[in-house]
Amino acid sequence: MAIAALATRASRGLVVGVDHSQVMIRQARRRNRLAIRAGRVRLVHTPVESLSISDGPFNAALAVNTVGMWPDPTARLREFARLLRPGGRIALVSQPRCPGATAATSAAAAHELAGQLTEAGFERLRTEMLNLDPPAACVIGHVAPADNAELADHPTARS
Ligand SMILES: C[S@@+](CC[C@H](N)C(=O)[O-])C[C@H]1O[C@@H](n2cnc3c(N)ncnc32)[C@H](O)[C@@H]1O
Repeated sequence: MAIAALATRASRGLVVGVDHSQVMIRQARRRNRLAIRAGRVRLVHTPVESLSISDGPFNAALAVNTVGMWPDPTARLREFARLLRPGGRIALVSQPRCPGATAATSAAAAHELAGQLTEAGFERLRTEMLNLDPPAACVIGHVAPADNAELADHPTARS
């Protein structure tokens, strides 16, 4: 569903979906068949730990209720920092599904994701909470911009 939403919003470029579950890939293929046929969506059946630099670069990445299942999430996020272009963005979403989860559980999940992103080298972090029950936490981080982009944004930094 997220792939379909992203493909609708992206007026150009490619949306790539990754999952190691054949079932999820099959469902996503069914839901996104027109966009796949039009060359706007590509689905990759692979574990996230097998993505390599040749799969990128990407402008942005989104992971919904998934990071907690990755082996060594911080190492994976470091790889995403390399897969993304300079200045690229990543958004990690978590809506805790454990019984009795509350807004405090979501806040704790956001805190953990923010720590992992910081450790992986992402910067300019921001957290948004979607008011569900329990809330869905979305933590957004950025890869450092290329040096010349930074200079263009802050011309006085040149001296
Ligand atoms: C809880 S589901 C969330 C699915 C979807 N994003 C959603 O919010 O409905 C977690 C998904 O992560 C996938 N997943 C878990 N570990 C993975 C890994 N190491 N590599 C690729 N996909 C993985 C699972 O196959 C599953 O489809």
